[in-house]
Amino acid sequence: MPRTLASRLSAIKPSATLAISDRAAALRAQGVDVISFSLGEPDFPTPLNIREAAKAAIDQGHTRYTRVRGVAPLLAAIADDASRRRGVPFSPAEVVVSVGAKHSLYNLAIALLERGDEVIIPAPYWVSYPEQTLLLGAVPKIVETREEDGFRLSPEALEAAIGPKTKAVILCTPSNPTGSAYDRASLEALAAVLRRHDVWVIVDEIYSQLVYDGFEQVSLAAVAPDLRDRLVIVDGASKAYAMTGWRIGWMLGPPALADACEMVQSQATSNPSAIAQQAALAALKGDRADMAAMVAEFAARRRLMVEGLSALPGIRCRMPEGAFYAFPSVHGLLGKKAGGHVLEDDLAVSAFLLEQARCAVVPGTAFGAPGYVRLSYATSQAQIREGLSRIAAAIATLT
Ligand SMILES: Cc1ncc(COP(=O)(O)O)c(C=O)c1O
Repeated sequence: MPRTLASRLSAIKPSATLAISDRAAALRAQGVDVISFSLGEPDFPTPLNIREAAKAAIDQGHTRYTRVRGVAPLLAAIADDASRRRGVPFSPAEVVVSVGAKHSLYNLAIALLERGDEVIIPAPYWVSYPEQTLLLGAVPKIVETREEDGFRLSPEALEAAIGPKTKAVILCTPSNPTGSAYDRASLEALAAVLRRHDVWVIVDEIYSQLVYDGFEQVSLAAVAPDLRDRLVIVDGASKAYAMTGWRIGWMLGPPALADACEMVQSQATSNPSAIAQQAALAALKGDRADMAAMVAEFAARRRLMVEGLSALPGIRCRMPEGAFYAFPSVHGLLGKKAGGHVLEDDLAVSAFLLEQARCAVVPGTAFGAPGYVRLSYATSQAQIREGLSRIAAAIATLT
């Protein structure tokens, strides 16, 4: 037997966002001051009460294996939190805690997907949905959404995409990369389509606590309780509690599916860190003043970023409802010349912004949305102001 790698690896690629961060890191190593708008995590420290709970957990002996799906108090706290925030009851039997929401999604992919199954993924999408699907030998069925529709999947497009091989639909609200979120009416319209087809529905709500201007975040679980036997909600501690490094995420789904995901996890990682579980418990039980302050700061930055971008020639940016990303169209810059060469696509625009404005942004192509770029505003208002003025100066040099 030749010593080869598994052929399934040829189906997937490493996170495209890493290419830009590698180039940005290389520039920084040369002493260039690069502003990063490419981060996918809050720039705030994990709140003190959570850090203290983790320290105490070590001394209290939370240092051993736990039940694979997580300790009982955490399962109960997640079910309570989900019931309160989503307005419909959830029970601990529906919860599996994993090593981040990405791991929850991967458990689901293993538990649900057969070779050749189709998974409907609206574009722009978070990069791991199609890649995890491909790793399992299943087929991502990418469905375009329109900026005019707020990048929300339309019921007509969903209906047209569902076929005999469709196994699951993945929605993300609020979305990475667009920041768009589904309101009640758009979820009701999608639910009407989903009722007619027996497919799994996975809704990634990891940004559900990061919404602005009074946007009413609604869950499909509340809009369509009749779909609960095939609906999975994915959520976690990473974004809302500034806990990306702790690696705690979870799924909420029908008990039989939760049991299946726990079984998958039992053969891969076993339980997520016992200490991080105690930290997540403190996050869910604790006072949310730090989160409220973080959300208020994100709201101010969102306005600064989106209004600043919208004022630039060749750039158009919708005001997103949530998350911490702006997703402007750069179609108006395409065809322009930077020095000798033409900006042909969003990849060229991103490279141009990195070289000329010393700002790292992520090309929309990475998310299945050519002609756009993603800017994270998980960075200070001072950095956003400075970055915007550098981008303005760089654009002014285009001919
Ligand atoms: C839409 C979305 N889902 C899931 C995740 C994964 O989060 P976690 O850190 O909990 O694995 C991310 C992180 O970038 C995300 O943007």
